[in-house]
Amino acid sequence: MEKNKKIVIANWKMQLSPQEAIAQAKNFKKLYTKAGLEKKVAVAIAPDFLAYLEVAKVLDGSDIFLAAQNGYSETKGAFTGEISLATLKESACVYVLIGHSERRQFFAETDESINNKISFALQQDLIPVLCIGETFQDRKDGRKDVVVMQQVQNALRGIDIKPSQTLIIAYEPVWAIGSGQAMQPAELKHTAMIIRQSLIDVLEDKDLPQVKIIYGGSVNAENINSFTDLEMISGALVGGASLEAEKFIDLIKQI
Ligand code: PGA
Repeated sequence: MEKNKKIVIANWKMQLSPQEAIAQAKNFKKLYTKAGLEKKVAVAIAPDFLAYLEVAKVLDGSDIFLAAQNGYSETKGAFTGEISLATLKESACVYVLIGHSERRQFFAETDESINNKISFALQQDLIPVLCIGETFQDRKDGRKDVVVMQQVQNALRGIDIKPSQTLIIAYEPVWAIGSGQAMQPAELKHTAMIIRQSLIDVLEDKDLPQVKIIYGGSVNAENINSFTDLEMISGALVGGASLEAEKFIDLIKQI
């Protein structure tokens, strides 16, 4: 990941059929390259696994990176239904989302499995995108900062990040995902400071240039700048606003 370039990661979730994903990837590649945006902003796309290899072919030779929405922390074995992070590495993957709130909520992803995945992803030289964020209830109970601190610490305990490696923390308040209600930039700034401090505590290192923080949760073309203008925020994780190539290009152009 280049030092001063912001990054935008498109999380397509389970929203597009393979045909739709391939068409969007082709269209996006054309528009992104034509606009010369690769000089300004790095972009990665996370399609679902059925579309993954075809989208990889479309993106081959472009400046657009491939990301996975999930992956498993073993190379091989009897793990029905899983896809190894090692296989993903072999298949052009650069970034992998780990511990997205939808995986925590609907697929019982635990702090322990998230920690294993981060560790294994780094062993494969993938860039883990650790997703963290509080629920609306956590917030109502005044526990937001504590929840965020615990998620960072549990995910990264015992993890070793080499100076040449990158780790991304995607801070995504659960209440902001898909709700149309993004977090206020002033609050994001405060939370990014808490995340930084938790990183320093758990990784026992004062200077962690390899760790970047990005924001996710109802990011769109109108609000993206209010987040990426913050010095501590290195980019965005975008769901809904990344599903149509033209709209996604508009969003990236704002940065
Ligand atoms: P959203 O999703 O942009 O649709 O809110 C973000 C995410 O879940 O990563």
